[in-house]
Amino acid sequence: MRLRHKKNAENDVLNNPFCINTSKDNNNLVSNNYLDLKEIFKNENPICLELGMGKGQFVIEMSKKYKDFNFIGVEKSATIVLKAIDKLSSLNEDINDTSLSSAYPNLRFMCENIENLKYVFSPHSIHKIFLNFSDPWPKKRHENRRLTHHNFLSLYEELLQKDSILEFKTDNKLLFDYSLEEINNSNFKLLQYTYDLHNDSTMNKDNIMTEYEYKFSSLGNKICKLIAKI
Ligand SMILES: C[S@@+](CC[C@H](N)C(=O)[O-])C[C@H]1O[C@@H](n2cnc3c(N)ncnc32)[C@H](O)[C@@H]1O
Repeated sequence: MRLRHKKNAENDVLNNPFCINTSKDNNNLVSNNYLDLKEIFKNENPICLELGMGKGQFVIEMSKKYKDFNFIGVEKSATIVLKAIDKLSSLNEDINDTSLSSAYPNLRFMCENIENLKYVFSPHSIHKIFLNFSDPWPKKRHENRRLTHHNFLSLYEELLQKDSILEFKTDNKLLFDYSLEEINNSNFKLLQYTYDLHNDSTMNKDNIMTEYEYKFSSLGNKICKLIAKI
């Protein structure tokens, strides 16, 4: 039953015009199978990714605030992507899934595992990557699943353009310390960091809160943030 439910969600996402279809038979893929981002967004504006967007609150707000940038929220769970679409639709009661694309021309969702993104985006085609409240995977044997593990940092390096930025927020201090270390041992250059974002007037300027950020800061947790450049 659970499997059927999952399969339905995957099909719904695949057929949803607001979601970028990364399957091989899709028109949005250029001949070498990378996405044709100019075709998708009908412009050449810089592309920003939120990796592990959850229900999309952050990436939706970013797309509303920064109209000259294109945003793609990437999420591996089809069920959660559908929740993000429901959230977007509930903000715009009069419109259906097709017209969501017109209402949010600079925003799309993608149901994909981050591990596969090197087959989806051509090298050095991405302007900025946001990681927000990534799953901590506290056990040592799961270390390579952490989205700031050096294998993932190498992937981001391959995706990002020169002089581009990676931003990471979490309330998990252990994951944050681990991430600072991974960044310092990588080709990324650490530009700024804080262990208390909401009380750091410089780094908190223009901060857009994510769903998890609201949840954990309301419980009294401090929010950590780092900004790194490649
Ligand atoms: C803790 S939630 C954070 C959601 C959101 N970014 C926020 O801050 O509110 C992490 C999300 O990342 C997704 N995720 C984890 N690993 C992923 C991967 N390898 N590829 C795509 N999504 C992933 C999970 O399914 C989950 O929805």
